[in-house]
Amino acid sequence: MNTVTVDLTPSYPVVIGAEIPIGEVLAAHVSPGPCVIVTDSNVGPLHLADACGSLESAGWEVLDNLQFIAGEESKSLKVYSELLGRVARTGLGRDGTIFALGGGVVGDLVGFVAASYMRGVRLVMLPTTLLSMVDSSVGGKVGLDLPEGKNLVGAFHQPEAVVADIARLETLPEREISNGLAELVKMGLLAGGEYFRDLDAISAARSGDSGPLVKLIEHAVRYKASVVERDEREGGLRSVLNYGHTIGHGLEAASGYRLSHGEAISLGMVCAAKIGAKHTGFDLMERQRELLLACGLPVTQTGFDAGAVLAAMSRDKKRAAEDGARMHRFVLLEEIGRPVWGVSVSEPEVIEALETLKGAG
Ligand code: GLY
Repeated sequence: MNTVTVDLTPSYPVVIGAEIPIGEVLAAHVSPGPCVIVTDSNVGPLHLADACGSLESAGWEVLDNLQFIAGEESKSLKVYSELLGRVARTGLGRDGTIFALGGGVVGDLVGFVAASYMRGVRLVMLPTTLLSMVDSSVGGKVGLDLPEGKNLVGAFHQPEAVVADIARLETLPEREISNGLAELVKMGLLAGGEYFRDLDAISAARSGDSGPLVKLIEHAVRYKASVVERDEREGGLRSVLNYGHTIGHGLEAASGYRLSHGEAISLGMVCAAKIGAKHTGFDLMERQRELLLACGLPVTQTGFDAGAVLAAMSRDKKRAAEDGARMHRFVLLEEIGRPVWGVSVSEPEVIEALETLKGAG
């Protein structure tokens, strides 16, 4: 079991390992008390009984277990307001704790419930997907979607602790593992050094070899923590985490979310490498492509409408108001481990990069 400390005020631990006794491990960081566990209809049947038992045996008073229907559609004001009502009816007070047991949707939605219920109660993240272990459970971003766009409502609400148990990944579909690996590769390229070198073990990690998997999750969490510690509220540096996301989000939305987040980000990274080679002179295309393929992620794509991708990019909340209608902000790499952010890229360059996806390289 490895622990990474996220050094904010207050600091919090991210515990990574296999078969982690949650209640026991948390005892060193959060005092047991009244709590509610919230999960979704996919994760509940698999992991709720185990999490609940572990907490109760460590002295937690689990007031209730709440479940909502799994899926991005639940990141809505409607489900949020229902959950607030259900939490209120458990009698949870301001000294209570909410446990978010699940993947990214659970962490975002339940995290926002914890951020706003009684003006904020304690939150513990129990991520059950690789994507949420390496990314969304760390750093405090919580929130909801609106019909007008994803993640348009939210808050920064740091958890008290994160417990990432890789035993939970055994029930995860392969496509979901690839989703998490996309963010792992992204951060390895941004971080460079030992983390980047250890990406050689990505195939072993993908096939479930726990040693390399824990090591890579630890690298990712450590890197993400180091970014969030320096820029908690995304005033600048934190936006490096959006490498591959500018076009990736556009592709994801334009596909009607048939592309998974990781698949879209993989394609977005291919485009960013193409644009980066032109802007910075650094060509990482081949190495990046090998890594993405080792993750089981796509590096080519046909049949998308470039106009729809550009329209979705223009609606993206991350666009700054001062960006011209035909300019987009990109994170690019000057070399492995040296990202630059806020680089203005024109629409014709985006279109040219999208062409790369059709297989030209
Ligand atoms: N997933 C990007 C961030 O946490 O800032």
